[in-house]
Amino acid sequence: MDLRLDIGKLFTPTQLGALKLKNRVAMAPLTRSRADQNGVPAEFATEYYANRAGAGLVITEATQVSFEGMGYPRTPGMHTETQMDAWAPIVERVHSHGAKFVVQLWHVGRIAADLNRGQSADVVAPSAVRAPGQMYTDAKGMIEHDMPRALETEEIARIAGEFAAAARNAMEIGFDGIELHSANGYLLHQFLSTNVNRRDDEYGGSIENRVRMPLEVLDAIVAEIGSDRVGIRVSPGHTFNGIEEADMEALYAHYLPELEKRQLAYLHVMRPFANDCDRDVAQMARQHYSGKIIVCGGYDAESGAEAIENGIADVVAFGKLFVSNPDLVERFRAGGPYNEPDQSTFYTPGREGYTTYPTLAG
Ligand SMILES: Cc1cc2nc3c(=O)[nH]c(=O)nc-3n(C[C@H](O)[C@H](O)[C@H](O)COP(=O)(O)O)c2cc1C
Repeated sequence: MDLRLDIGKLFTPTQLGALKLKNRVAMAPLTRSRADQNGVPAEFATEYYANRAGAGLVITEATQVSFEGMGYPRTPGMHTETQMDAWAPIVERVHSHGAKFVVQLWHVGRIAADLNRGQSADVVAPSAVRAPGQMYTDAKGMIEHDMPRALETEEIARIAGEFAAAARNAMEIGFDGIELHSANGYLLHQFLSTNVNRRDDEYGGSIENRVRMPLEVLDAIVAEIGSDRVGIRVSPGHTFNGIEEADMEALYAHYLPELEKRQLAYLHVMRPFANDCDRDVAQMARQHYSGKIIVCGGYDAESGAEAIENGIADVVAFGKLFVSNPDLVERFRAGGPYNEPDQSTFYTPGREGYTTYPTLAG
């Protein structure tokens, strides 16, 4: 049997809102920490992204909307002119390969050490609840996460405005759209949670209140750049970064239809990777959302094509496979082989483990 026939669906074009994709393979958002401490992408990030533009859709690494939204070392931003000037040639090169390119916008909330920021800012969260565990800093190695302060009610509009401004910046330098990061335990997910969100204003307590902040951020972005260029990423059941969703089923049964009302370009559903989860969250998302869906998390060419075939997904995103295989789409077509990703260089500065993985051509 020719396996390539089974995965043919991956190579067919599709459309997500305003974005026409040449195929249904997406590069997942991948933090690589190659920017500088002021969030300015490295010059060689151009080569890294361009080499992966065989994907129909390339999603950037998580990119902050302010220094307050930065938590890890050397993550890029979309809120200063110097950052935008560094992103512009990356966008141009990705587009020259016919890929669509969206920027994943985040605010890390409490998953932060102020030491990692080029400019100091408060560490903020829905409530003053410190994240468990430690995080890496260039200055002092592993340290505890900083203790966050609870956001004032009035500050939520400020943060929504920062997301909208970053989305506008991205469009100005030619990005095709943005993906709002509502997953993996960062600020929006902290609001959705039952353990980090202990607020007693209209942003805490009931499910309707806990989804309010993420929806206000989303609505501010949509008002700025239009709904058909906006996607959103969720990770139901993912306990990463100390998140609890005690009412996970009910939460997403409310949140996902609210997202659907916005007529977004896509919903991106990430299956938990840091913990086991009994629930098939891709299946769950499909039950509550009838728009376009990208799935991600543990897929290979065959299982990805199957998810499309079964109507669970329209597009499949690949993370670790794209770290180590710049020409992943060609390798899918050829039936492999695949380079193994080297975890030790996931977040280290410099080209090693970033632009050094070979293509099939050598
Ligand atoms: C090195 C690395 C960095 C990541 N950075 C991000 C990120 O910036 N934003 C995000 O939403 N997910 C991030 N993820 C999660 C991936 O997007 C993806 O969901 C995960 O790797 C599972 O997909 P896979 O099995 O195809 O690798 C990261 C994963 C890895 C391995």
